[in-house]
Amino acid sequence: MKILVIGGAGYIGSHVVKSLLAAKHEVCVYDNLSTGLEQNLFANAQFIRGDILDYGSLLPAMKQNIDAVIFLAAKKAVGESMENPEKYANNNLVGALNTLNAMTEASVKKIIFSSSAAVYGMPEYLPVDEKHPTSPINFYGFTKLDMENYMKWYDTLKGIKFVSLRYFNAVGYDEDGIVKGLENKPQNLLPIIMEAACGLRDKVMVFGNDYDTRDGTCIRDYIHVSDLASAHLCAIDYLQKSNESQIFNLGTEKGISVLEMLLKTQEITGKEISYEFAPRRAGDPAVLLASPLKAKELLGWQATHSSLENIIDSTWKVYKHMAI
Ligand code: WQD
Repeated sequence: MKILVIGGAGYIGSHVVKSLLAAKHEVCVYDNLSTGLEQNLFANAQFIRGDILDYGSLLPAMKQNIDAVIFLAAKKAVGESMENPEKYANNNLVGALNTLNAMTEASVKKIIFSSSAAVYGMPEYLPVDEKHPTSPINFYGFTKLDMENYMKWYDTLKGIKFVSLRYFNAVGYDEDGIVKGLENKPQNLLPIIMEAACGLRDKVMVFGNDYDTRDGTCIRDYIHVSDLASAHLCAIDYLQKSNESQIFNLGTEKGISVLEMLLKTQEITGKEISYEFAPRRAGDPAVLLASPLKAKELLGWQATHSSLENIIDSTWKVYKHMAI
């Protein structure tokens, strides 16, 4: 199939492109390289440098006999979304709506959409399944949920079928060492731990050690980016076969605490990582775990790369040359 990967030069996007090419799909990457990296582009995939806010550039990209769109172009920093909601409204809503409109105009009928655990807000029960109420507590999560609602309407009104993939905590790097672009100014736990292991920052601030968890620190469901990538392939197959819109959680149902991540990284890298307990971060649930049962049943998908060792090992492989 010919797939337009919007945001294909980003961290998750580049891993998705690698999997698509391995499965012999024809790929066109559309990316403005604002956070995506040139280094993440593949020689055997077409590349169009363009912005989702630029409809004049997006439409011709869509009018190339595209069979399906994979949409990963979004701003994703939760804190920033609360300080600068207009930026998130523009990119994550206006840009995504431009994409749906360009699909309508170009008669492209399938989209795989990057959504997030952030649509759920504070969990009411665990593990969180897709029937869990959605009640985002940050603007970023709101934009993802809002787009899912738009996609439901575009399905009803325009026959565009979607699969929305609600990622839990994305981590890890391509084990083959092909995708290795590092995110600029990372905001998430594991890259922060890695930077500390490399000596690029003094220490890791652990937000809260008084949670009701096994070691007092927050527990999350960390999912390897190669597992996320394979879920996109499953989602394409699913849309081909069933032509039915669906929403899936992507996680493992296994929890890892902040301290476990830190101490295991210390063990695997052999580097001393200083840390300090800091106050809780606003909006952090103590535990967040996905039920991946629906994805297993309908997509035949399962995480196979997401052991703690593999997550840390694959990430260290791309960070270790940064060590000072
Ligand atoms: C993980 C844990 C922190 C940094 C976010 C978004 C979510 C999704 C994934 C995109 C938490 C703790 C972190 C640090 C720490 N994003 N932590 N010190 O918040 O679980 O999820 O990314 O879709 O919507 O909210 O991820 O990596 O920021 O934090 O102690 O310096 O690590 O408190 O418990 P989070 P994270």
